Amino acid sequence: MKWWQETVFYEIYMPSFKDGNGDGIGDFKGLLEKVPYLAELGVGGIWLTPFYPSPKVDNGYDVSDYYAVDPDYGTMADLEAFVEEAHRHGIRVIADMVVNHVSTEHAWFKAARSSRDNPKRDWFVWRDTPNNWESFFGGSAWKWDDVTKQYYYHSFAEEQVDLNWHHPAVEREIWKVFDFWLDKGLDGFRLDVINNLTLTRDFTDNPTENGEQRHLFDKDQPGMQKMMAKIGARIRTRGDYFTVGEISSDKLAEIEKYAGLDGLDVTFNFNFGSVASRDGIVAELARMQQVYADGRMPTLFVGSHDMSRSWNRLADGREDVAQLLATLMLTAYGVPFVYFGEEIGMADFVPESMREMRDVQGVYAYEQALQMGKSEQEALVLAQEKTRDKARAPMNWPEGFSQKANAWIGEVTPDFDRGQRMFAFYQALIKLRKTADFCESGYRDFEVDGEFLTYVRGEHLVCLNFGKAREVPNKWGNLTLVLANMEVAVSEEIIAVPAFAAVIFKI
Ligand code: NOJ
Ligand code: CA
Repeated sequence: MKWWQETVFYEIYMPSFKDGNGDGIGDFKGLLEKVPYLAELGVGGIWLTPFYPSPKVDNGYDVSDYYAVDPDYGTMADLEAFVEEAHRHGIRVIADMVVNHVSTEHAWFKAARSSRDNPKRDWFVWRDTPNNWESFFGGSAWKWDDVTKQYYYHSFAEEQVDLNWHHPAVEREIWKVFDFWLDKGLDGFRLDVINNLTLTRDFTDNPTENGEQRHLFDKDQPGMQKMMAKIGARIRTRGDYFTVGEISSDKLAEIEKYAGLDGLDVTFNFNFGSVASRDGIVAELARMQQVYADGRMPTLFVGSHDMSRSWNRLADGREDVAQLLATLMLTAYGVPFVYFGEEIGMADFVPESMREMRDVQGVYAYEQALQMGKSEQEALVLAQEKTRDKARAPMNWPEGFSQKANAWIGEVTPDFDRGQRMFAFYQALIKLRKTADFCESGYRDFEVDGEFLTYVRGEHLVCLNFGKAREVPNKWGNLTLVLANMEVAVSEEIIAVPAFAAVIFKI
C-alpha cells in the first residue's frame, strides 16, 4: 500500500486560503496558521497551486522562475516552515508543476526571443506561419514576435509560452526543477496540463466541428505515453513520491492509460468532477469502476479552482445534496481531492462588473464577445459564465480572511452555521475513510439503478440516492447505521431511502 492510496488530499488555491501578513493575498504564513485546522478536518495531503514567482497573468500558472517563492506568498523560509509544520501534523504537501509552458517573463524565453540563433531559441516552438491551432483560452495559439519575426506557440494565454519538449535540454532542465523541490521536502507533484506537451514537429491543422475547434493534434501527441512513463519513473526513482496528472481529455480510456506503473500515479478525470450538472455522475462512476482494474486508481473530486463550486453547480445550493456528493467522493474507490471551502459549503462568487473580474479566461471571453459585436452587457454575461473567479473567492474564516486589507478578489457572504454542519459531516467521512475498508479494497455489490447507487466496501454498505425517494430490498440483513445526511428507515426487509439521501451502514 502506498501512502497516497490512503490519503485524502485538499487543494489550496494559494492566493485565496489565508492571508498572514494583511495585504489581502493568501500566503505561507497564513497557511502555517491553518495547519491545525486541516489536521482537525483529517486530510493527509495538500496540493498547493503554483507559488513560484510569476507576473500572475494566469495566477501563477505562468511561472517566471522555477526555483523561488513569489514574494506575494512569502519567502523560501516561510514555505519550509509551512511544510515542516504540515509534516509534523502528518500531512504531506505536493506542489503544482507547470512544465508545459513558462511565463514570457521567464529568463529562458527572454533569451530565446532575443535572437534567432540564441542557444535557447529552440526551447520554444517557433514558426514562420501559424497553423489553425487555437489557444485553450480562445483565439489563435500563435503570437507574432516583432523582434525576431516569427510566431511563437502558446496553448493558453499569450503570456504563457509553450516549452518545446522535443528539445532534450528542456527535459534535462525540468528534471532539475523536480529534483530541487523534492530536495526541499515536498512529497510529490500535480502536473499541469501534462498531456499537452509539444513533442512532435507535425503541425497538422485541427478539425472544426459545429464551428468549434477539436483539439486533436495539439495534445496527446505521438510519444506522449512514453513521456508520461518517463516523468513518472523519474520521480519514482527518487523515492516514495506521488504524481497526479491533469489530463485535458474527455476520453476515460486516455485518462486511464496515463495512470499506473507505466505512467503517473493517478490522473484527473474531468468527466467526473467538472460536469455541468450532477446528472451523469453516477453513470461516470460506474464507467470508472469498470475501467480501473489491476490496482490502478482513479481520482475523485467535485470541484477545483477551474470551475464553478460544487455547491452551486452540482448541489443547487442544497446542504443534503452537498453532503451526498461528499459521501460519494469520500467513500468511493479512488484518491479524493477536496477543494478548499467545500468542507464548509462555500458558494460561488460572481463578479458583478469587469472591474471585479480577475480571471484571464473571463477577461478573454469579454474581449472576444466585444470583438464579435456583442454589447457590453452581453459580453459581461458571457464573461460571468466563463470566469473561474467563481471558485476563487477567499476562504470564509470566522475571523475573516485578512487582518487588514480587502481581499484581492471579491468575497462571498459566509454562512457559519452551515459551515459547521458541513465541516462535521466531512470530518466524520474522512475519519471513516481512514479505516481499512475504504483504503484497501475495491467494491463489492456495486449496483446502479438509474440515479440510485449502492456499493459495499469491506464491511460497509453505502447507499447514495441522486433520484427520487425509493424503497430497496435489504439483502444484507442486520445493518447498523454509521453515518447519514438525513433520516433513513431500515428494517430487515426494506431500506427506505429519501431523495438525496446518503447513508453508510456497517454490515
Ligand atoms: C490548468 C490549471 O488548472 C489552470 O488554472 C490553468 O489556467 C491552465 N492549466 C494553464 O496552466
Ligand atoms: Ca498576504
